[in-house]
Amino acid sequence: MEIIKSPEEMHAWARARALSGKTISLVPTMGFFHEGHLSLMRMAAKQCDLVVVSLFVNPTQFGPNEDLDRYPRDFERDMALVQQEKVAAVFAPTPDLMYPQGFQTQVSVANLTTHLCGQSRPGHFAGVTTVVSKLFNIIQPEVAVFGEKDFQQLAIIRRMARDLNIPVKIVSHPIVREADGLAMSSRNTNLNPANRAAALSLSTALQLARERVGQGVRSVAELTKILEAHILSFSGTAIDYVSFVDFETLEPMTVAEARTVLALAVRIDGKVRLIDNGFVIPQAVG
Ligand code: PAJ
Repeated sequence: MEIIKSPEEMHAWARARALSGKTISLVPTMGFFHEGHLSLMRMAAKQCDLVVVSLFVNPTQFGPNEDLDRYPRDFERDMALVQQEKVAAVFAPTPDLMYPQGFQTQVSVANLTTHLCGQSRPGHFAGVTTVVSKLFNIIQPEVAVFGEKDFQQLAIIRRMARDLNIPVKIVSHPIVREADGLAMSSRNTNLNPANRAAALSLSTALQLARERVGQGVRSVAELTKILEAHILSFSGTAIDYVSFVDFETLEPMTVAEARTVLALAVRIDGKVRLIDNGFVIPQAVG
């Protein structure tokens, strides 16, 4: 497995492989790998001949008061984990290589970014789409794999690839969870035991929503009330949003139906912001 730091070298590496007839799938990450990231890598390996994992804690997607400094990092541990997967190369640039002096271009998607996390994290998605466009241009993968955990990010990247005619197939992977239901996240490492208990408010809210919808409660106003009370019954939780949205447009819905995704963002103990989501009516896999 190769570790490549410079965008130019990465591009040359990928181009040489493409010219020799190999297909490449890309898994963009910010590192501190968990089973969710590793599952994406395994899915990527099934799609193409070679997997490239990018590992870059992208400063432009963090707001001034967000957790860029506290974002967990452990390069050695990540390399040990990735060695065990079918990964041909890790692209791990530094911020100055990705954003050299004079950098001033942004890729941004309009409407989809105004909902959900876009409201409390202004500029976040422009940071994501800019860095992901750069990764697509540097590596030019046939396939890129993203997790459904970041459901809004996935919708935005699909839109961007379609709108800009980027010749990449976006593939998604379901949310990977801990045994008790907590969605895996690099940020979970910043949870102390009390926070960890409160973090279950998200996945249990999702279960509760499915239960109530199954019992015939379809009014989003009523469901929202039930879920807010449930989340706030855990100590140390503050709700960022409890939203029922259309899975494609991300527009808010008033009645829960097959297209409805419940999206949640909860701040634990004022410091760790967690997200989770899922269809309120479990979908047939197909
Ligand atoms: P990061 O949070 O490291 O996530 C990398 C990829 O792993 C994303 O596609 C994310 O959705 C997926 N992922 C994270 N936790 C998951 C889980 N529990 N189950 C399934 N997939 C999961 O998302 C980013 O990095 C960045 O915004 C990035 C796209 C790399 C741009 O900087």
